[in-house]
Amino acid sequence: MAAKSEPFACLACYDATTARWLERAGVHVLLAGDSAAQVVLGYERSIDMPMDFAVEITAAIKRGAPNTLIMADMPFMSYHASLDLAMTNAGRFMVQGNADVVKLEADETAAGLVDRLTRAGVPVCAHVGCKPQTSSVTGGPVAAGRTKEQLEQVVRDAKALEDAGAVLLLVEAVPAEATRAILEVTNVPLIGIGAGQDCHGQVLVVNDLLGLTDHPPRFAEPVADLGNAIMNAGREWVTRVSKRSIGGGSYSMRPGEAERLDESRARDGQNA
Ligand code: KIV
Repeated sequence: MAAKSEPFACLACYDATTARWLERAGVHVLLAGDSAAQVVLGYERSIDMPMDFAVEITAAIKRGAPNTLIMADMPFMSYHASLDLAMTNAGRFMVQGNADVVKLEADETAAGLVDRLTRAGVPVCAHVGCKPQTSSVTGGPVAAGRTKEQLEQVVRDAKALEDAGAVLLLVEAVPAEATRAILEVTNVPLIGIGAGQDCHGQVLVVNDLLGLTDHPPRFAEPVADLGNAIMNAGREWVTRVSKRSIGGGSYSMRPGEAERLDESRARDGQNA
């Protein structure tokens, strides 16, 4: 699609059911994002994403959307401590998680890692620009590439990681000038989030799109209001339960069984 200049749609999601519906909707790429740490597990930071949980949801998303390209986000510290650990964990995403691509937050210094993963047969998406896993150092998720020097750094990162073998690039929270500068020097598809309209693909967190997030980031415009829909459905259930009017089907005893029960109770009463 990128080669034909057809924009492609990508969403971060976290479970098989949502993935099934998003595949039916024609979303082209699903990301098992480490944002699950906040969205699903209720942590404040994406660095709290557990590795086993990440592998598990990747496999769940693939089961829900078997015909969609699935990208797995490598959690904080699952690829930093050593090349060997990174290889082992990336292998888990490919084999246990059934991922098509692994994504890792990186700058040009991670070129060696991307090269080694690529040579081993792991397709890599390099996530540049704002890198939420470094929030503890930067003091929060900050936009990248807003000065000339920062912009040049993001472009260097993207180019170095592509040269190292990355099959996809993802750039987060940068001005459109930075996106355009990356596009000028790279050839692989570029996915953007908060990076303007020029990227080949666009990604958002599905909860932001569905209106489930209390304070979505500035670049994430909801297209549905599922938060209120869930709240209203919950209220309706509370009302139905309180009125003993829960709706839905019920079970009946098999033919003749109610009579047998009555007879047996009557006999027990006589014998008492
Ligand atoms: O985990 C995530 O949600 C991400 C975004 C870039 C979509 O990495």
